[in-house]
Amino acid sequence: MSSRYAKKLHDLELKGRFRELVPVEQYGAGIVKYKGRKLLNLSSNDYLGLGQDSELLQRFYQELDRVESGVSGFSAASSRLLTGDSLLSHHLEDEIANAYKSESVLLFNSGYHANIGILPTLFAKGDLILSDKLNHASIHDGLQLSRADHKRFRHGDYEQLYDLLKKHRKNYDQVVIVSESVFSMDGDEADLARLIELKHEFDVKLYLDEAHGVGVYGQNGLGKAEEKAVLQDIDFLVGTFGKALASIGAFVCCSKEIHDYLVNHSRSFIFTTGLPPVTVNWNRFVFQHMLSMNRERLHLQQLSTQLRHAFTEKGIATRGTTNIVPVLIGDDSLALAQAKKLQERGGYLVLPVRPPTVPEGTARFRLSICANMQWKDLQELPLQIAAMASGAKSEK
Ligand SMILES: Cc1ncc(COP(=O)(O)O)c(C=O)c1O
Repeated sequence: MSSRYAKKLHDLELKGRFRELVPVEQYGAGIVKYKGRKLLNLSSNDYLGLGQDSELLQRFYQELDRVESGVSGFSAASSRLLTGDSLLSHHLEDEIANAYKSESVLLFNSGYHANIGILPTLFAKGDLILSDKLNHASIHDGLQLSRADHKRFRHGDYEQLYDLLKKHRKNYDQVVIVSESVFSMDGDEADLARLIELKHEFDVKLYLDEAHGVGVYGQNGLGKAEEKAVLQDIDFLVGTFGKALASIGAFVCCSKEIHDYLVNHSRSFIFTTGLPPVTVNWNRFVFQHMLSMNRERLHLQQLSTQLRHAFTEKGIATRGTTNIVPVLIGDDSLALAQAKKLQERGGYLVLPVRPPTVPEGTARFRLSICANMQWKDLQELPLQIAAMASGAKSEK
């Protein structure tokens, strides 16, 4: 008799939801080798193309050559609260705080560590967390770890959020609204102005995850809160290094009091080895570089808008406003089969995103447009997807 794991894996296969690891080789400027084919990578979060900029990498390594080994090592060798702390990390925190005009900044090892480490530490029994239903899994896991009550409001439904605040605010000591700024699967944005109105009206805190906003939006690439000139209204702003900053790690902009509280209580900060010095160095380098990449940010927006328009013209359902462009397919197996076709015949690395990552019946391609792409690289895509869609219709 097969084990329960084998049975569950088999069920996933039957539903077209089995996931597997496939090694990807980088070939520079958006091109990867995937299952033996060279393809344009439309599934990468390296939105500014910084991770594939070989000149930039060379400059970084040249700078590293000039510094002593203590700042280019591959391990912090212990938690930051033991001997894994370095001046480098403090410099990076100061530089981020300076850019965001934030009283304080604390680094985490990843966005996942940040979201599962901050929410349960700051919000406890007697508090309420109100979270957008489409928030990332790391936020959801942070809610589960917290002893605070939590409720999830329908995606972007601020009327429901208003009703929840009106009904429940008085019953709780602290209430926090948690939202992403750019939603990673729909490519749409939170209405920050409305969230801030609600924050003030009900005297609650606002926690904003800018994982997909940092590098891409705002005059200095600080994210949507910078673009909308509301940085000072965000109580906890989480940014990550794993996407447009082409690295690993995360940070939270907060008050000095919250910084100190997290250092003393946040388990995912305390009980893990600090980021490697070489990574912290790269994060400093790349953060400074990103601040002035306005030309790339503009190009990225133009390219994404052009692609969205081309999809709409071809009658292909899409959503959102950002450089994350979803193409809605619906059925899991169809999404899987069409993604495979685009890889095998189209020259595009498009991966299907299926439940539970997205709601049931909304399997999709999540296309990440990056600043090192050109329109000529993308223009065939709407035609190919439209041809597959009409083929699928005529087969019905
Ligand atoms: C909105 C959001 N927050 C947090 C994370 C996790 O960040 P990291 O990859 O640095 O763990 C992600 C990653 O996909 C994300 O999309």
